[in-house]
Amino acid sequence: MATLLTWLGHNCWLIETPGARIILDPFLDDSPTAPVKSDAIQADYVLVSHGHFDHVADAAKIAVRNQATVVSNFEICEWLAGQGVSNCEQMNLGGSCRLPFGTVKLTLAHHSSVLPDGTYGGNPGGFLLTLADGRIYFACDTALFADMKLIGAAGLDLAVLPIGDRFTMGVDDSLEATRLLAPRRVAPAHYNTWPPIAQDAAGWARRVQSETSAEPLVLAPGEKINL
Ligand code: NI
Ligand code: MN
Repeated sequence: MATLLTWLGHNCWLIETPGARIILDPFLDDSPTAPVKSDAIQADYVLVSHGHFDHVADAAKIAVRNQATVVSNFEICEWLAGQGVSNCEQMNLGGSCRLPFGTVKLTLAHHSSVLPDGTYGGNPGGFLLTLADGRIYFACDTALFADMKLIGAAGLDLAVLPIGDRFTMGVDDSLEATRLLAPRRVAPAHYNTWPPIAQDAAGWARRVQSETSAEPLVLAPGEKINL
């Protein structure tokens, strides 16, 4: 079985590997674009990039119901433990964690990370996943930064970049990020959830095709792809 990825809207992704079901940045119950609610999610791992509500919203619910392991920074793990989550893999920026399905590295992100109740959420991050059949980089919420070149150095099968602008990088910077990362394919996220982050994904894809060497991959919420 190959690795399957499903975009669940905003920055939420379901990654189904032969060994594990992983949900990243679960924001479903209050997301205007999510195709499913959190009670339909079966997951073994819950990855959380930073403390903002549109990334952490359904993490505790999904982790507790599935007895899933949360993978996040130390501060977010502590906060989720206070909400009944019993299994956490605590990390910090630059560190890797070997798990049964592959290796998870918590990468730099230029953003903020306060939790919904005002608790300090540590540093925001992105995720570099090294799986049996490929390597995926989820930039998560971030501005463009030149060190993306280092993240892409080992080769990426897929990069997932925010394109919504205003709270993260926008279209122009996502093209520069794509050139720095040099992935085989690139998918947009964190756009069209609300009017302030509306973007023309088809126009973005045309620009990726003409201005970078990556193949653009625009998914509709609920759509699946093979890695
Ligand atoms: Ni954010
Ligand atoms: Mn966000």
